[in-house]
Amino acid sequence: MAVDMSFVLSLVISLIVISMIMCFFRKNKTISTKSKNKLPPGEMGLPWIGETFEFYKAQRNNQLYEAFVQPRSRTYGNIFKTRLMGSPTVVVSGAEANKFFLSNEFKLVVSSWPSASVQLMGANCIMEKQGDHHRLVRRVIASSLNCTSHETLVSKICSSVEFHLDTNWHGRDTISLFRSTKMLTFTIVFECLLGIKVETGMFEMFERVLEGVFALPVGIPGSNFSRAKKARLQIQKMLLNIVRKKKKEMEESHEGGEDGVLLSRLVTSLTRGEITEEEVVDNAVLLVFAVHDTTSFAIVMVCRMLAHHPRCYAQLLQEHREILDSKETNEPLTLEDTKRMKYTWQVARESMRLFPPIFGSFRKATVDIDYEGFTIPKGWKVLWTTYGSHYDSQYFSDPLRFDPSRFEDPLPPYVYVPFGGGPRVCAGYQLAKLNILIFLHFMVTKYNWSLIYPDEPITVDPLPFPYHGMPIKISPKMS
Ligand code: HEM
Repeated sequence: MAVDMSFVLSLVISLIVISMIMCFFRKNKTISTKSKNKLPPGEMGLPWIGETFEFYKAQRNNQLYEAFVQPRSRTYGNIFKTRLMGSPTVVVSGAEANKFFLSNEFKLVVSSWPSASVQLMGANCIMEKQGDHHRLVRRVIASSLNCTSHETLVSKICSSVEFHLDTNWHGRDTISLFRSTKMLTFTIVFECLLGIKVETGMFEMFERVLEGVFALPVGIPGSNFSRAKKARLQIQKMLLNIVRKKKKEMEESHEGGEDGVLLSRLVTSLTRGEITEEEVVDNAVLLVFAVHDTTSFAIVMVCRMLAHHPRCYAQLLQEHREILDSKETNEPLTLEDTKRMKYTWQVARESMRLFPPIFGSFRKATVDIDYEGFTIPKGWKVLWTTYGSHYDSQYFSDPLRFDPSRFEDPLPPYVYVPFGGGPRVCAGYQLAKLNILIFLHFMVTKYNWSLIYPDEPITVDPLPFPYHGMPIKISPKMS
């Protein structure tokens, strides 16, 4: 009987222990299932509006990080939810998040632009394409920007810069650096990349479209958006004529895009039936936007940093003097010379770290995404920003300090992302780099210059720009 009692007792104890263990696992399972469906922390704000006003206000003052992202990241961590322009949105920060969301383009997320941008840039441009077709269009664009075309690009960009300085800087003692670089980069994208001659009025037409790309897409007469749409139609008509003329010329001459210019490559693809006429036009429009405001902002911010840091300027100038000293008088600049502009590129990279021309961009979840213990529901937007990793002291000590020597050594992937990353990484990185280096070369070797407003505010509408257009005093250097 004693044996029976101890048997019963041990059986009861075993059952209790087993049920406790099962209870423990069941409880944990509940916790993990719950966390699987847990939304990130954060405030969704009012219906539809959410935190749109706070976002726009911070963005407009070029304080998106300091006034919007950083305070929320301090409260909630590197992933938080909000609602922007009607869409539930998750804002993510840091190199890991950049890697996860940028490299999972097409698998978990797709690029997602506001409706006004899509209508104005064109629903048929590369930004709106996915999968195989996206790859095809990228290949066509890249074919005009690959290594074999760099030498030709250098010579074309040099001619454009020299011509621009001769016609717009020569004989003047002040100029708006931002307007000047915008006009120049506009000419470079049209004439050097696309192979289309810039005609009077084209620059202004494109400017009008740009004013509407982040506007509310309502066609109230006189609004930014409706003026932008009108200008877009004019551009479409003009480009369609150019494309048809080019196609006819190429058919008559049996030319197959060998001249290397992008318009010929796009038209070749059109003739093969790979892309449509609308795609040629929309991609041409997109490229103009992709190139000229971004590159010109990058250039002006480099100049501002140089003006604020005379020792960096002296070192940069020395680099360009050495290049000039190694050449005969009036000997043209070569691709090899641009490769010697190592310090200049470090200055430009450091400047784009602090002042990225594009703050980041939106993606849309195509499935429910589990990330960092949270779920991002299908259909929600994800905003990644350059600031999240560019201002991270883990990678950049004293992150707000300007220090080009940070770029002497390579950085881990997805830390430095002014050109994005993954399948949608900027297709024009090389053109942007050559454009920045070559412009700075001619500017610093041919002109003395100084900022008129050393601490001019930067505003954002829709992309960042110096509030007064960065006027500078200039005088030619005696050679
Ligand atoms: C300093 C100048 C530039 C900066 C900072 C810049 C930045 C970027 C960024 C961040 C993206 C990725 C956007 C995203 O992930 O949603 C991008 C995409 C793109 N960029 Fe640039 N860009 C610059 C100049 C250029 C130039 C000169 C071209 C000319 C070819 C260009 C063409 C493109 C194109 C076609 C895409 C879309 C790629 C795709 O969707 O596959 N960009 N750029």
